[in-house]
Amino acid sequence: MSLCEDSKFFNENLYIKIDKLISPEICNELIEKYEQFSFDNSIEVTSKKIIDECSDLISTKEINSILSKYFKSNYKIFWSSFDVVKSNALEDNYSTLWHLDGGSPKTLKLFIYLNPVSIHGGNTLIIDEYRTKVLRNADALPIEHKKRKLDLSSTLEKLKLDTITISYNYEAGCALLFSPLLLAHRCLPPKNNQKRYTICFTIVSAN
Ligand SMILES: [Fe+2]
Repeated sequence: MSLCEDSKFFNENLYIKIDKLISPEICNELIEKYEQFSFDNSIEVTSKKIIDECSDLISTKEINSILSKYFKSNYKIFWSSFDVVKSNALEDNYSTLWHLDGGSPKTLKLFIYLNPVSIHGGNTLIIDEYRTKVLRNADALPIEHKKRKLDLSSTLEKLKLDTITISYNYEAGCALLFSPLLLAHRCLPPKNNQKRYTICFTIVSAN
C-alpha cells in the first residue's frame, strides 16, 4: 500500500499492520540484551535502554504519515514498555481477556513484535469498531478485570454479529498500530513455554 492508502485504511479501520519496522537482526539483539539483565543492569534499566534504542527506529515515513493524518496535530509518545508474555499468562494477565483500554479516545498503541508469531504462537486479537460498539453497549466489555471474558463468541452470536477476530502473522520487526479504546482486543498468550517479546508505545495527541 502507498502512504496515502495506509492512512486511508487506518482512518477507516483504526488498525494496520506495519511490515519490516525493525530488522530481524536488531530484534534478536534486543531480545538478547533483555535476557542478559543482571544485578547491575536490572530489568527496568535494560528495558528502558531497549525502548530508547527503539524510539528512534519507529519514526519512519509510513508511521509519521499515518499518525499526522490521524491526529491532525502533533503527537507524542506518552508511555512505553517492554513486555514479555509467557505461555501461562492466562493465570494472571488481564490483557489476555477481551477489553478496551481507558484514557483519551484518540490514544493509539504500537506493538512491535520482536519475535515471530510463527514461532511463539501468541498474538494480538482485535474486533472491528462497529462490533466493539455493539459489544460495549451490551456491557460485554467491562472495565473490571474480573468481569472480562476470554471468549466473546457466544455474546457475538447472541448479538447476531460475526465471531471472526482480526490478527496477523507478525514476523520479527513487524508492528500493529491500533486504537485500544475503540477496538476490543486481547493478548493471545504464546504456546508451549514460548515467550512473546513486544515493545509497546502509547501515542497521544501533543495538544
Ligand atoms: Fe489493552
